[in-house]
Parts: sequence; C-alpha cells; structure tokens
Amino acid sequence: MLKAAEIRDDTVIGIEAGWAGLLENRMREIKFADFEDAIGVGGTMLTTSRTNPLKNDNGIEIVQASLKKAEIDALIAVGGDDTLGVAAKLSEKGARVLGIPKTIDNDLAGTDYSFGFFTAVDETMKLIESLATTGRSHERVMVVEVMGRDAGWIASLSGMAAGASIILVPEFKTDIESVADMVMLRQKRGKKSAVIVVAEGVDLGYKGEIEKDEFGHPLVAKSDESNAAFLARYIEKKTGIETRATVLGHTVRGTPPNAYDRVMTTRMGFHAVEAIHKGRSGIMVAIHGLDIVEVPLAEGSKKRYLDGETWRVAKSFFG
Ligand code: F6P
Repeated sequence: MLKAAEIRDDTVIGIEAGWAGLLENRMREIKFADFEDAIGVGGTMLTTSRTNPLKNDNGIEIVQASLKKAEIDALIAVGGDDTLGVAAKLSEKGARVLGIPKTIDNDLAGTDYSFGFFTAVDETMKLIESLATTGRSHERVMVVEVMGRDAGWIASLSGMAAGASIILVPEFKTDIESVADMVMLRQKRGKKSAVIVVAEGVDLGYKGEIEKDEFGHPLVAKSDESNAAFLARYIEKKTGIETRATVLGHTVRGTPPNAYDRVMTTRMGFHAVEAIHKGRSGIMVAIHGLDIVEVPLAEGSKKRYLDGETWRVAKSFFG
C-alpha cells in the first residue's frame, strides 16, 4: 500500500495543451500546492487541444523523445477515445503510459462512467427544467440541443432526469414526423407545452459536408445550422405551435464538477499513481459499479454507444 508521503515525493510534470505539449515541448512542474484550489474548478488548468500526433509522420517518435528528454518515467493520459487511442499506440511502442477516462460524452468502452459526464448531466438537467418552465408559461415547444456528436449519453440521461417529452439520440433513429405527432398528441391530452432534447450528432438529414478535426470527427458544433434550430422550425411548421430553439453546447463544459465527479476523479488519480508505483503500464483506470479497476488501455479506450436498455427505459416516458 502506497503512503501519501510517497506520492508527495513524486515529481509531477504537467503537459500543456494535450499531445501538442509533447510535440512542442510545453510542460512545467506542478507542485502539491498547485492542486489546492483545483478540485472545484471545471475545465483543465493544463489546457487542451485536438492535436493528433498520429497525423504527423514521426509524431509518436517526437512524443517519445520529449518524454525521454524531460526524464518522465510514466505518462498519465487524461481524455476520451482520441487522446487515449494515441496513448494506447504509444504504449504499444514501449512507452510507459496509463489512461484516465475524461469525457463529457461518456463514450468509452472500458468504464461505466468517465469523469465530467455526471456534472454535465446535472447541469443540463437543470437547464432543461428551466426551459420547460418558460415553455409552460408561454405554451411553447422548447427544443434543446446538447453535446454528443455520436453518443447520446448526455441527451438521454439529462432528458430522463428532467422529464423531457421526447429525446433524440444519434444511436437510435427517431423520425421527425413522429416528433411532431407526439407534440400534437400532447396537445390533445391538454399539455400545451413540450420540451424536446436533441443531441448535436443526430442526423436529421439536412446537413451537408461538415468540417472535421485532426482525429477525423465532424465538428458538429461549428455547423451553420443547429439541429435545435432545424427541428424547431419543422415542429412549428407542422404543428402550428410556437417553438423555440436553444443550443446548450459548450455552456455545460465549464461548470464546476459535482461531488460524484470530484470523488471519482480523486480515486482514479490516486489509483493511477499507485499503479505507476507498482510498475503498471498500458492500462486505463476505470470505474465498474462502485469499484476503481484497471482495464487494458487498447480495449478500454474504444468507443461505447448508448445501450439499448437505457434507451428502452428513456423512450417509455416519451409523450
Ligand atoms: O468530444 C467531446 C465534445 O464535447 C463533443 O461532444 C463535441 O461535439 C465536441 O467535443 C466539441 O468540440 P469543440 O470544443 O472542439 O467544438
């Protein structure tokens, strides 16, 4: 068992701007006191980027050379499937690398939850409820778009928690005519307003070519028209009910972490440091149920989509 003092004796080098930091030599030592105020702050004090070293012919070699030059014994990569996919490649090449799952999208195969996700769900739930309140006052349909370019975790869990009338996710197709029909059905039942949650990555069939990032993912948040705006226009036209669109997008990505995320992250970070002291490499620290576990990085960093069972439950409350 590792003692706190041993952890405090480690030298911690913070790498700035994700993989760009190792390509451009942007790193600095982090002292224990630097963490003091960090627990309740969203975002990252190290900054981040969407730089992909695999796009560069000898990117992995540059990263390895930077680690060696900075005398870094082990690297803890914190991120989603892109960041951890690179970490897995680096580990294959012999570097000592561990991963920690951090993505608002919650779409990593090896863990039940990634940190940041439940904070986003909490915040989104409150904002959906607030939109539902103004929707009820004005007897309007409120369409709210949330992040999730190919995974509907935020949309489904926050929508479920806020009692949304309908939720649309990328994994399970919902035809938009049935959305308008459901709004009309609500009217017949005396419900004069509705709140509809749509994930940004749902394909409503109107978008053309979308710019991609270095990992080849569509930058849906940069689209000319949001899913919310498109859907709101469609619903208003089809039903004749006044409809408004709101895109939450990046607003929920900078909120202070909730208690669950703070505790889970602390446990994961502690476990990762202990794992380094035990000589481990090529693993991702994960949460399975209530337990912090280790899973192979290459497997754990793969994508995970919203499961059919969660969707079945969410769907049963639509209308
Ligand atoms: O990968 C996480 C994510 O939050 C996606 O849900 C979203 O599409 C994307 O990031 C937005 O990226 P950016 O901050 O580069 O616009």
